[in-house]
Amino acid sequence: MNPLLEVKNLGISFQSESGFQRAVEGVSFHVGDGESLAIVGESGSGKSVTALALTRLLPTPPARYDSGEIFFGGEDLLRVSQKKLRSVRGGGIAYIFQEPSTSLNPVFTIRSQIAEAVRLHRPDVRDIDREIVRWLDAVGIVDPAKRMHDYPHQLSGGMQQRVMIAMALSCQPRLLVADEPTTALDVTIQAQILGELKKLRAQFGMSLILITHNFAIIRGLCDRVAVMFRGEIVEQGDSEEVLKNPKHPYTKALIDCVPKLGGGKARLKTIDHGALGG
Ligand SMILES: Nc1ncnc2c1ncn2[C@@H]1O[C@H](COP(=O)(O)OP(=O)(O)OP(=O)(O)O)[C@@H](O)[C@H]1O
Ligand SMILES: [Mg+2]
Repeated sequence: MNPLLEVKNLGISFQSESGFQRAVEGVSFHVGDGESLAIVGESGSGKSVTALALTRLLPTPPARYDSGEIFFGGEDLLRVSQKKLRSVRGGGIAYIFQEPSTSLNPVFTIRSQIAEAVRLHRPDVRDIDREIVRWLDAVGIVDPAKRMHDYPHQLSGGMQQRVMIAMALSCQPRLLVADEPTTALDVTIQAQILGELKKLRAQFGMSLILITHNFAIIRGLCDRVAVMFRGEIVEQGDSEEVLKNPKHPYTKALIDCVPKLGGGKARLKTIDHGALGG
């Protein structure tokens, strides 16, 4: 059976004063139905560029799609029409980003923002308010019928991120791409939201791409992991296997950054690019 998403040999450059600079090169990975993949790598390694490229969200210019194929539902998203892309965004592949404040519109209530998403992607839904309450409840928002009338600023950062997840899920995407969804939140709230994501994924059989620079949050949440370094995937495989037995020196260095249980204070190690041949 074909995977839900299959990315082959993706290459992306950005225009700069000195010509085009490669940001992502030869990236290939796949995500099966109901499967979860983590993309891990340090800042600037090309994680977000890869994620945004999936539904061609990078503006051209400055971006340029140099090579590759992105098969989703049997079609190559790098070659489909804009109209088709608009229906895939949200409905087929939905995103949650790090900063809810950049994705939620401050002048509209939570209710009107989720309603718009539902109307766009699931025009057959009759009772939209019931649908909104259902998803807010699913992501753990207490008293959703009342809270949906709030404006984003009336909610804490953690609550806003839950609303973002509810909004993404209300479109019933087949694949959710979560780009550092909890980095801006404190550790307790991070754990709660990741727990929520795990539950929802199991409940709705959705596939997940979780982007993070932190190996610690992958455990128990993602089936497989792809490690990115300087725009390329240097290693990928079963999460437990990669965590236990990392092959690439960069993966080892990343795993060494993860605080060990009971290991006292964790120190962030500087990654020596020279030693990695880069
Ligand atoms: N709009 C842009 N214009 C020019 N270069 C860009 C643009 N967006 C990203 N890049 C470059 O592409 C490379 C990969 O960036 P990307 O945002 O994918 O990194 P990342 O792995 O998501 O990092 P972080 O963990 O900080 O989010 C970087 O070198 C970055 O400078
Ligand atoms: Mg990023």
